[in-house]
Amino acid sequence: TAATAGRAAAVAHPNIALIKYWGKRDEHLVLPRTDSLSMTLDLFPTTTRVVLDPAAEQDTVTLNGLPLTGEAQRRVAAFLDLVRRRAGSSRRAVVHTENTVPTGAGLASSASGFAALAVAAAAAYGLGLDATALSRLARRGSGSAARSLFGGFVQWHAGPSSAPPTEADLASYAEPVPVAAFEPALVIAVVNAGPKAVSSRAAMRRTVDTSPLYQPWARSSERDLAEMRAALRRGDLDAAGEIAERNALGMHATMLAARPAVRYLAPATLTVLDAVIGLRQEGVPAYATMDAGPNVKVLCHRTDAGRVADAVRGAAPDAAVHTAGPGTGARLLDEAR
Ligand code: PMV
Repeated sequence: TAATAGRAAAVAHPNIALIKYWGKRDEHLVLPRTDSLSMTLDLFPTTTRVVLDPAAEQDTVTLNGLPLTGEAQRRVAAFLDLVRRRAGSSRRAVVHTENTVPTGAGLASSASGFAALAVAAAAAYGLGLDATALSRLARRGSGSAARSLFGGFVQWHAGPSSAPPTEADLASYAEPVPVAAFEPALVIAVVNAGPKAVSSRAAMRRTVDTSPLYQPWARSSERDLAEMRAALRRGDLDAAGEIAERNALGMHATMLAARPAVRYLAPATLTVLDAVIGLRQEGVPAYATMDAGPNVKVLCHRTDAGRVADAVRGAAPDAAVHTAGPGTGARLLDEAR
C-alpha cells in the first residue's frame, strides 16, 4: 500500500481567490487574518513524485527537470521536515515536480505545488491523513495551497484568532463551498510573465505592519465572504463578480497604502480592467480579480468566455490568454510501481 511503499505521486491544480487571503496572524503556522474563498482551476496541473531514499543525507528536489537550489530548495526541505516529524522518520526524499503553469506567470504555482507535495509526501511517509488534515498540512507550505486540496469553490477558514497555537492550527483548513448549478469561467490574461518584485510573503507582512487601510479591508472582507457564499449558493454570477472585484481592488488598495507602497498592477493590468468595464457596458457580465502580480483573471459565464477572451486580447495584444473552468481537488495518482 501507499503507507509502506515509500513512494507516491499526486496531482493538484492552482486556485484563484475571489475573496483574497492577504495577511498572516502567525507566520510560522501560516494562519491567516481572514477567511478566503477560491475557485480551483481545470488548467495547469502540477504533478509531484516523492521517493524516500534511506541512503540520502539531503532532500533532492527538481522542478521541470532542473534541481531547485537556495531558498526554494530550503522551503521544500522545511516542509518535508514537518512531514518527517509527524511520521517519526528521518529518511530524506527525492522529489520530482512537473509544473505546467507558464513559469513565472504569477499564477499561484505555489498553491498547486504545495498541495501536490502535501498529498504525495504524506502518502510516501505513511501518514494516513484525510483531505482536511492534508489541507492543514499544505497550508504550512503556502497558505493558498490549503484551498487546492479541494475542487470547485473552496473556503479556507482562518479559525478563531485568540485560540492557542494547537487549537488554531486545527481550526484553519479549507473545505468545499456549496454552489448552485452554474457554469462560470475564468479568463486569465497573463500580461507579464516576469518574476515579481516583492514576494507575496514580504508584501503581506509589510501591508499588515504599515498600511492604514489593512484593518478596514480585513473587516469588509468578512462581509464580502458571507455575501459571496450566498451569491454562489444562488448561482448569481453578477453578485459573485461584483464582490470578487471589489475585494481584489480593496486588497490592492491596502498594498498601495503600505509604507513603502507595494504595487503589482502594471499599465497592461489597467488596460485589461478598462476592457472588462467595456464588456459590462455592452451587457456582458465580466468581473476582474488580480493577485500578487499584474495578471488579470476575468470571471464570466462559460458561454461568454470567447467574447471575453477576444476583448482581453484586443486590450493587451501581448498577453497570453487562457480560459479555465472549475477543476478537481488534489489527488494521489495510482501509478505502476
Ligand atoms: O499562498 P501565498 O502565500 O502565495 O499567497 C497568495 C496570496 C494571493 O494570491 C494574493 C491571494 C490568494 O488568496 O490567493
